[in-house]
Amino acid sequence: MLLKKQLNQTSRHSIVSALEIGGVKIAKDDVVRDDPTNNVPDTIFTKLGLQLHMRDQHPLGILKNAIYDYFDMNYSTKFVKFDDLCPIVSIKQNFDDVLVPADHVSRSYNDTYYIDAQTVLRCHTSAHQAELFRKGQTHFLVTGDVYRRDSIDSTHYPVFHQMEGVRVFSTDEWEKSGIDGTSYAAIDLKKCLEGLARHLFGAVEMRWVDTYFPFTNPSFELEIYFKEQWLEVLGCGVTEQEILKRNGRENNVAWAFGLGLERLAMVLFDIPDIRLFWSTDERFTSQFSEGKLGVKFKPFSKFPPCYKDMSFWISDAFTENNLCEVVRGIAGDLVEEVKLIDNFTNKKGMTSQCYRIAYRSMERSLTDEEINQLQWKVREGVESKLKVVLR
Ligand code: PHE
Repeated sequence: MLLKKQLNQTSRHSIVSALEIGGVKIAKDDVVRDDPTNNVPDTIFTKLGLQLHMRDQHPLGILKNAIYDYFDMNYSTKFVKFDDLCPIVSIKQNFDDVLVPADHVSRSYNDTYYIDAQTVLRCHTSAHQAELFRKGQTHFLVTGDVYRRDSIDSTHYPVFHQMEGVRVFSTDEWEKSGIDGTSYAAIDLKKCLEGLARHLFGAVEMRWVDTYFPFTNPSFELEIYFKEQWLEVLGCGVTEQEILKRNGRENNVAWAFGLGLERLAMVLFDIPDIRLFWSTDERFTSQFSEGKLGVKFKPFSKFPPCYKDMSFWISDAFTENNLCEVVRGIAGDLVEEVKLIDNFTNKKGMTSQCYRIAYRSMERSLTDEEINQLQWKVREGVESKLKVVLR
């Protein structure tokens, strides 16, 4: 399945010109093209096909396997597992099939990576729900890499991994319980996920929060208390009847959840920064082994951050996600955080913003000279690509 290049970890960052995922052959210029309907940068293409979740010795693979164990144990291997579905999907799969409204922000070029006007890098594993219903699946887990344009901090990275779980009930399952199908599914869902959280964490503080997703109703989020704050780790709910109806399941009810593997793994393995999941440094990779969930990561030493501020007059088209993409395109994984620290509008109606960029390597100390050079390149890149006026 995987390209040979990807199996060889040391060369994973070399540019591959073609790869194959889940039987689909992908060439670089199928994904990255210089035309206005495409917004996929090279840095994102290099992540395609790496499939960290398929590595049994990687924290994400270890976590995936531990979740598989929970489902195998509790549902006697009834859940069918998919972890090699191609991340290139149509906007129909990613949005329409799961009832995302036409004007929803997640459809914008600011939030999603578009390959062309009809094709995206999936922004959630829910993109595969409808096709799997149509194929007759009733109990399934879909694990994969997902892609989102976003701001930069220690818990956000433009590529991360999700696991989707879906269970379909037939009428007789809830009818004999005396409660309606939706309530029946909601109770079962919460019980299943609380059990999963206990299986993974043992005792951990958690809470349910009511929320909204276009594809479920009711919808909930599970949050876990980590490093003095509540961290959202999964979204879930009772599948909208319309989705079931359109895909051959009119008389059923179902629940679905989508969980963020990095978020859970950060808590379980004490991994302080999401960039570390991509590290090929042996001091990171050698700390984890197959089947060992929750081994606490020992930082190899804490390297100091270096902060650089930059102010500019923004234009109407400016967005923070675009800024972050430019910064990451130049500084790569040396950028730890990009944070708005000042924002004002003058009498002429011009808005100035100041961003603080934190540079820090997870692996070594950075020299002043190196940071200064990076910052110059970032300033040039921001000015030329984002049409802002530096101050
Ligand atoms: N797709 C949602 C997300 O990415 C998560 C989710 C999956 C929510 C399934 C409800 C049901 O945020």
